[in-house]
Amino acid sequence: MKINPIRGTHDLFGEEIIKFNKILFEVKSIANKFGFSELITPIFESSELFKKPLGEQSDVVLKEMYTFKDRNEEEITLRPEYTTPMIRAAISNGLLNNLPAKFFGTGQMFRRERPQKGRYRQFNQINFENFGSEDFFADIEIISLANNLLKKIIPDNNITLHINSLGTRENLKSYKIILSKYFKDNKSLLSKESLDKINTNPLRILDSKNIEEKEIIDKSPKLIELLSKSDLSFYEEVKKCLTELGIKICEDQTLVRGLDYYCHTVFEFKSDLIGSQDTLIGGGRYNGLIKTLGGKDIAGVGWAGGIERIMLLMKNIPKENKDIHLAILDSNLKMHAIKLYDYLIKNNYSVYWNYKYNLKKSLSSANEMKANFIIIVGENEKINNNYTIKNLSNGKQTIVDINNIFDHLK
Ligand code: HAM
Repeated sequence: MKINPIRGTHDLFGEEIIKFNKILFEVKSIANKFGFSELITPIFESSELFKKPLGEQSDVVLKEMYTFKDRNEEEITLRPEYTTPMIRAAISNGLLNNLPAKFFGTGQMFRRERPQKGRYRQFNQINFENFGSEDFFADIEIISLANNLLKKIIPDNNITLHINSLGTRENLKSYKIILSKYFKDNKSLLSKESLDKINTNPLRILDSKNIEEKEIIDKSPKLIELLSKSDLSFYEEVKKCLTELGIKICEDQTLVRGLDYYCHTVFEFKSDLIGSQDTLIGGGRYNGLIKTLGGKDIAGVGWAGGIERIMLLMKNIPKENKDIHLAILDSNLKMHAIKLYDYLIKNNYSVYWNYKYNLKKSLSSANEMKANFIIIVGENEKINNNYTIKNLSNGKQTIVDINNIFDHLK
């Protein structure tokens, strides 16, 4: 019986898992520097958590959620994103008493999209959220965190930060009406796909990748024109501060994001080296969302990054040297070797037992694995109760007893 992986899923191993773990390591390290605590939530939640907050007309809710009825008829959804589960968890566990409350998490998300390079049905996200601050510095902090993380993981890549402001949710509501009217007046210039969105979700027409619609979209009314003085000045502060930090920004007035909960600052880090799925990190403000989910009326800002997309830009990471390779010359010497093996492991060395029981094969295996040292365990060594250590960087070979072994491994 041969069972294939489910379409849109993928296994991680070899070079990929080394990259994956490097990302997780850097995420934890930067979270610690910026004072974000880890919050791990379940992979499935009540469907209600996602439907309204993400937008009943959003692609995620309309077409992409993995939703099923549990045996007790409860409707459950595999999480398509991490922001709403994090808020749910913060509310459920009373984590919103000291504000701002800053959390991060990494894990699998599920969206039934059409699979392609950088787009999967099960994928991994990094997620950072700051709950409870209206200060524009919260936007700066979270964007600067993302920028530092990307610089650390993929230093030589030309990644651009796209930014826009949506103003308040009321602005967005009025804008949708204006946009809907504008596209209705220009129906003949739109694709069938965009026409379907005129009434339900005109904002999504703005992300159309159809070249033939580019001109009509470029000429569409701009949301920025509806922003109040104070919203504009908030946005100006954000841009000024990012520039002060040396973070290059690309203002993009058509950037509206695909989920409904955003307001004010929205941003995306993009790369032009990974094909059409070019957004590595996306996020923004979601003031009002925490209240919608039954929490306090506090603000929020955050982002999520796709681990698989970031991995596409990473170079292979050179293999770490395995410290010590055991060359056991005959299988009847296992008992003598095992004491040494155990002793080295207990003293925090990394030791490789190659299962070959042959000098020549052991030497080539040690070279292939770039071991620092090889320790030979042969008949003579057994009789004399010692071991032969070979330093593979200078070829020097020494016979030592177990008590002197550490002096020679330095
Ligand atoms: P999102 O833009 O839907 O935002 O997803 C964030 C990132 O997840 C994307 O930029 C992309 O790198 C990755 N991603 C999304 N879908 C897929 C997929 N099918 N395959 C591979 N990678 C994917 C959110 O999820 C929001 N919760 C972000 C946020 C956090 N906003 C505020 N806080």
